[in-house]
Amino acid sequence: MCGIVGYIGYEQAGPFLLDGLEKLEYRGYDSAGVCLNDGNALVVKKSKGKLKVLKDLTEDGRTLKGTVGIGHTRWATHGEPSDVNAHPHLSESGRFAVVHNGIIENYQQLKDYLTSKGIEFRSMTDTEVIAQLIEYYYKGDLIDTVIKVLEKLDGSYALGVISQENPDEIVAVRKESPLIIGLGEKENFIASDVTAILSKTRKIYRLENNEIAILNRDSVKIINTDKDEVKKEIETVNWDINAAEKGGYEHFMFKEIMEQPKAVSDTISPRIKNGRVVLDEIKLTKEQLQNFTKINILACGSAYHVGVVAKYIFEKMLRIPVEVDLASEFRYRDPIINDKVLTVVISQSGETADTKEAMKEAQRRGSHVISIVNVVGSAIAVESNDVIYTWAGPEIAVATTKAYSTQLAVIYLMALYFGDMLGTIVEDEYKALVAELEHLPERIEEILGHKEKVQYLASKYFNTKDVFFIGRNIDYALSLEGSLKLKEISYIHSEAYAAGELKHGTISLIEQGTPVIALATHEELIGKIISNIEEVKTRGAQVMCIACDNHPEIEKIGQTVFIPKSCDMLLPSLAVIPLQLFAYYVASLKGCDIDKPRNLAKSVTVE
Ligand code: AGP
Repeated sequence: MCGIVGYIGYEQAGPFLLDGLEKLEYRGYDSAGVCLNDGNALVVKKSKGKLKVLKDLTEDGRTLKGTVGIGHTRWATHGEPSDVNAHPHLSESGRFAVVHNGIIENYQQLKDYLTSKGIEFRSMTDTEVIAQLIEYYYKGDLIDTVIKVLEKLDGSYALGVISQENPDEIVAVRKESPLIIGLGEKENFIASDVTAILSKTRKIYRLENNEIAILNRDSVKIINTDKDEVKKEIETVNWDINAAEKGGYEHFMFKEIMEQPKAVSDTISPRIKNGRVVLDEIKLTKEQLQNFTKINILACGSAYHVGVVAKYIFEKMLRIPVEVDLASEFRYRDPIINDKVLTVVISQSGETADTKEAMKEAQRRGSHVISIVNVVGSAIAVESNDVIYTWAGPEIAVATTKAYSTQLAVIYLMALYFGDMLGTIVEDEYKALVAELEHLPERIEEILGHKEKVQYLASKYFNTKDVFFIGRNIDYALSLEGSLKLKEISYIHSEAYAAGELKHGTISLIEQGTPVIALATHEELIGKIISNIEEVKTRGAQVMCIACDNHPEIEKIGQTVFIPKSCDMLLPSLAVIPLQLFAYYVASLKGCDIDKPRNLAKSVTVE
């Protein structure tokens, strides 16, 4: 989604603003702009298209004058991508400039009101309304004016405001959309996330909803909308800068695929002590857990696919019914949720609007919510009842890999932790599963060591137009993720199908040479999946299999990528690796923009 940066200090702001926007490109955008106070007026430079256009226009920011400025990368919501709709937006007189991430839901009536007062709008955006409202209500105090304007706004926003009237100040506001304050030496910053400011400072404030930050060169003050000062803890970000950079890999996505052993280990290790799974983050007692009659999982995209895997695992190990909902559907189906339902919310960014709003709906109906989130301090993490962080580190590529794998790892931990509490797992099985879980990172490492086979198979398929992914049980859940990975970065159409369902219609699409990727890791169902593979082969399909190395016979019916045999519960974490690599190599051969696929954003903070 949109990215915000801001600088106030004694250096020229331009170069930092452009560099900061570059660090936020991964959020997905279609235009970019900056505004600086050059000592006389607010000067805006903005353009449709990639940040390179703006960097060329301003010589990487060096031609920009001024030590106070704000910048923005826009992912269009209201008004198509264009120069005029790009942020920052100025008020009519040019005395106030605003950058915004979020959606102002009542912008049209506000715009109609201001238009009736004779104010002329330049853009089609909701954001311009904020700049015009500030000017309309300004009576000499910018903070009072901003507070008054916030009272008029419905919706979500992270705002950066500078003005000609207050040349030595940046005002920043947060409601729902994330915004952090960077604390430097004689300089301070605003940004949508830490990657934009890590090169300058590691000390930050994370703004909470309805908090207002007033930044000067030498000080930062946080107040609420009653103008009471808010005391906040300074957070020190311990990510190293490389963690947010490519680290020598060609793409963030490949770097993050290769980081999975460490990410999974970092997520698991702190939560296994003396052979027991310990989840101190969960404050549920055994009695409370026993009180739940259902688990409801809410998520979007790949996080939803983790939820489908979790359904099979939780139901098998905890013997509690599990329902998995697409968050965007859950909210509008009048769900049957009460305090006897445990809700599990899964989100890498912790800012996905659909997921966040679905979580609130579940809470409104009395459900206890445990969230599984990668971004510390994100909205879903803060607003859920319990949060279990995945320690994947910053995930920059739009297509999730290490976050997906660490979410799976947390699911395993939860299944073992709850199973132990409920007594639904016999002790010997529990110990064996914990031991297997502790070896998971090295098994993932082993698979990554044989990526050439996947690269070879990708070279056979990268020109295809359609691919089918099939599987049964937990392999079906995995086929959903394999299909999405391929679609989102290679733009090749693919479908994931329960293998037993293919013959009920879709098999009519199989013709000579149609690629079918069969997930064949589930031990008990190996015979069934082999039959399904034969069904598609007799109709001409070209079959590639993912199977465990204790079934070498699979190689006879299709080109096979083998993974090390492990317990069924952990197989998704192993089988997903070849699927991620397959999508990556196919997209790479097609020359796609792998880290920033078209039309997609890393964090979808609008509904
Ligand atoms: C996955 O590769 C996609 N980037 C997308 O489906 C993503 O998983 C989805 O938008 C949910 O995002 P979240 O985990 O940040 O909530």
